[in-house]
Amino acid sequence: MKEKRLNHIVNKVKDMPVLPGRVNKIIEITEDPDSTIQDLEKEILKDQSLTSKILKLANSAYYGYPRKINTVSQATILLGFQTIKSMALASTVSKIMAAELKGYALEKNDLWTQSQTCAIISRYIAKNIQYPNPETAYIGGLLRDIGKTILNYYVEQEYNAIVNKVEYGHMSFLEAEEEILGFNHAQVGEKIATKWNFPEELVEAIGLHHSPEKSTINPPLVSIVHIADAITMMMGISIGADGLAYNFSPFALETLNISTNEVEQYISKAHDLIVDENSFDLI
Ligand SMILES: [Fe+2]
Repeated sequence: MKEKRLNHIVNKVKDMPVLPGRVNKIIEITEDPDSTIQDLEKEILKDQSLTSKILKLANSAYYGYPRKINTVSQATILLGFQTIKSMALASTVSKIMAAELKGYALEKNDLWTQSQTCAIISRYIAKNIQYPNPETAYIGGLLRDIGKTILNYYVEQEYNAIVNKVEYGHMSFLEAEEEILGFNHAQVGEKIATKWNFPEELVEAIGLHHSPEKSTINPPLVSIVHIADAITMMMGISIGADGLAYNFSPFALETLNISTNEVEQYISKAHDLIVDENSFDLI
């Protein structure tokens, strides 16, 4: 039975849509040091909705540019390649992540809202500790729970068994997922990220966002996403069934050299960030 379900989950991941070719192309261009603004502009212009989102963000108060930005190339210079990459990816995954996930008690848009929150906090922490690529942290934070979109169906079926394990078996929700279903949502997320050909550091950040101490490829990135995830859950924004089950890993705090005092500052800052951040209404 369990074996059958394991295969079923793996097949569901295989059946997930691949990222649209256009998004892959944009990611490729933003990662190639030889590409030009024109290369990127040409690709962006093929997608009307992405074009308007990029222009809207460039003209938002967040960037505070005094003159109106009318062209994608101007916007690209202002926002930078990495931000464009995040936006292209976010506009694609938003559709997958906005769905209602009954198994996790997440209503329509809940997972998407908390994923954006986690992404914004990840980027903030990354900038704060001068991590070299804050946009990678943003993407890790955005996608860390994408496995829930697949596991939801099985969690819903086995909800009572999982909750029983949590209540009487002294397990976290995550451990109960793994015990009952054979996979936890982070492991399923890792499979999706692998399928989408993400760089291995991002695959790891998604797969180990609840167990950063196991990381070997990029412990700081995993630790950033882990801490941002715990802060997001603590803030109580659309958190769902497993919301209060997660704690800060001492390994992550040590890896990033962050004190509990600083975590508290991040938490109070996080509320301001969410209010200020423009990307919420841009996706
Ligand atoms: Fe998670």
